[in-house]
Amino acid sequence: MKITKICCIGAGYVGGPTMAVIAQKCPHIQVTVVDLNAERILAWNDENTDNIPIYEPGLDAIVAEARGRNLFFSTEVDKAIDEAQIIFISVNTPTKTYGKGKGMAADLKYIELCARQIAKVSKANKIVVEKSTLPVRTAEAIKSILDTTGNGVQFQILSNPEFLAEGTAVQDLLSPDRILIGGDPSVEGQKAIQALVDVYSNWVSPEKILTTNVWSSELSKLTANAFLAQRISSINAMSELCEKTGADVNEVAKAIGMDSRIGSKFLKASVGFGGSCFQKDILNLVYIAKSYGLNEVADYWEQVIIMNDHQKRRFSNTIVQTLYNTVADKKIAFLGWAFKKDTNDTRESAAIYVANDLVNEQAKIAVYDPKVSRKKILADLDYLETRTAEENANSILTFDDPYLSCEKAHAVAVLTEWDEFVNYDWQKIYDGMQKPAFVFDGRNILDKTKLEKIGFVYQAIGS
Ligand code: UDX
Ligand code: ADP
Repeated sequence: MKITKICCIGAGYVGGPTMAVIAQKCPHIQVTVVDLNAERILAWNDENTDNIPIYEPGLDAIVAEARGRNLFFSTEVDKAIDEAQIIFISVNTPTKTYGKGKGMAADLKYIELCARQIAKVSKANKIVVEKSTLPVRTAEAIKSILDTTGNGVQFQILSNPEFLAEGTAVQDLLSPDRILIGGDPSVEGQKAIQALVDVYSNWVSPEKILTTNVWSSELSKLTANAFLAQRISSINAMSELCEKTGADVNEVAKAIGMDSRIGSKFLKASVGFGGSCFQKDILNLVYIAKSYGLNEVADYWEQVIIMNDHQKRRFSNTIVQTLYNTVADKKIAFLGWAFKKDTNDTRESAAIYVANDLVNEQAKIAVYDPKVSRKKILADLDYLETRTAEENANSILTFDDPYLSCEKAHAVAVLTEWDEFVNYDWQKIYDGMQKPAFVFDGRNILDKTKLEKIGFVYQAIGS
């Protein structure tokens, strides 16, 4: 099958960058990204690519190159579905906030709506690709909806999970470790797999394209995220032990990372992992394991989340205890709000939970993040429903200038590892702060010796 038109439902952190790169690398394929959110589509179409809704290094240039040529952003969902031979589903699958599986299972209502819409609109055979992370066997549900509510046309369902990490999405898409495509073993299924393999082959070498059955592909995505998150919780667990014993977690991470069986990546102790994937996917895994009665498996993975929650809480407790057991009416400057550097995404960011704890203690939080707006910060806190929006707005100050956010602060807390924080004029920050001036480095990025020489009381994670 020769692919000339692709549609992607969902213009978010996954759909947007993935389709931009496919369009850049496959100029012969027309790629249309659709979304119900008209404001988001408008932003993707903004003449000035600085204003596209997602900040990812390098993405603006790719959008500028391909947009209008073979990359389009639109709210005309039906038209794009109708025209395309391949439809990617990249809509959000948040953790359920209601009903059965509340707080654990993935909410598949957006996926189901997409499937029903594809079924209704399609007048020719199509390949439907799951891009969003989904519970194992979701493809089966999508297939059942498509086959029973459609117009009698044939659908092939593929699972093609996204492994990009935010902040490095463009690089991850341009040179992926692997592309995973799961499909049906039937002849038709294999043809569909080949059609998608051909798309990726425009820039990815064949040995990096892995094909499996659908369930293996779906479960591999959950497993990869569970393993990655587990490494962070493992090193964070050791960070607490290091603090008690006088070991240094950075030294421990380096020592174990040189063992080629362990490897050096993803061993950075921190205030806790965030992001839209890790927690959601592990909760999902736990829920699936429980639903099969595999309680030991479920408990094993749940511990990764329990450890992460503990790490976030431990960070806020340390701040309160160190500031003489009270932060009431004290200004605490937050450097960073995003869940990691080089992204404006704040989903599940540790900063939200640490701020929430400190506001409970009546602190005033002064946030500076190079890419996150005040509106977003307040929306994140309001979402926790701990207090009224007005109370949150009164407790959170936001600044466009990092030095102003630190002025007269009792403490600075580093919540995101933005590179720029390292090179600030720390003497200037010290001069403007209350004394003793405390720094709580939740990312272990600052120079302890330099800061202590200036006069700061410096506290890192795990040393
Ligand atoms: C993750 C997976 O890496 C990616 O493959 C998948 O497709 C989506 O989920 P992402 O959440 O974008 O990507 O970012 P990632 O780099 O994995 O970081 C997740 C969180 O872990 C961040 O809060 C980060 O700061 C934290 N982290 C990461 C650490 O605390 N220590 C580390 O060593 C690595
Ligand atoms: P992700 O990180 O998985 O990309 P996002 O929330 O950033 O998640 O993006 C998902 C996008 O999918 C949102 O912009 C949302 O408006 C869009 N979306 C959800 N359901 C539908 C639907 N039925 N049709 C079109 N777009 C949808």
